[in-house]
Amino acid sequence: MFEAIKGRRSVRKYKTEPVDREIVKKLLDAARWAPSGGNIQPWLFIVIDDPKVLDVIRKISPGYFGEAPLAILVCSNKERAYKVGGALGRDYLTVADCAMAVQNMLLAAYALGLGTCVVKSFSHTAIKEVLAIPEGIEPELLVIVGHPNQTSRPPPRIPMNEIVHLNKYGEKFPGLEG
Ligand SMILES: Cc1cc2nc3c(=O)[nH]c(=O)nc-3n(C[C@H](O)[C@H](O)[C@H](O)COP(=O)(O)O)c2cc1C
Repeated sequence: MFEAIKGRRSVRKYKTEPVDREIVKKLLDAARWAPSGGNIQPWLFIVIDDPKVLDVIRKISPGYFGEAPLAILVCSNKERAYKVGGALGRDYLTVADCAMAVQNMLLAAYALGLGTCVVKSFSHTAIKEVLAIPEGIEPELLVIVGHPNQTSRPPPRIPMNEIVHLNKYGEKFPGLEG
């Protein structure tokens, strides 16, 4: 698990080889086992593997790099989240929960030798129209998936001693890397 957490990278170059649907099912299953506030599970997943649809998605997504043969749009059901969890459910938990589902998917894909990249840079209005997404369902994050055709260096992380506090804000946690 620790190797996967550190070894996973955002991949922006892919081979054309498709991703088997059985593998796709594994990614989706990993996603739905993520934790969610109140176990509302506000997520739903639109699997896009039709090359024509992917072409359109690419055109409306400036943050979508490479020719990945698969994209999974993670959406939230805002209406259901509001009914069960009120405004907190609709406005906050949906986003946090979908992010958790996405991270599960990224790690599962990595474990299966696949590359992924989370994409938020897409036209919200256009993606709703292209994929016929109804009112009350909101696109949260697009996850592109494919067989990686690059190995990239890990982008740096902010040093631990700049982001960790002990017992109260501003107190150092001793012994952390600088
Ligand atoms: C919420 C979110 C949105 C992102 N949106 C994009 C995007 O639109 N396009 C892109 O190429 N990468 C996107 N990324 C990937 C980040 O750039 C990447 O995770 C970050 O640079 C760290 O690199 P790493 O994933 O290899 O550790 C996004 C990541 C997250 C978590």
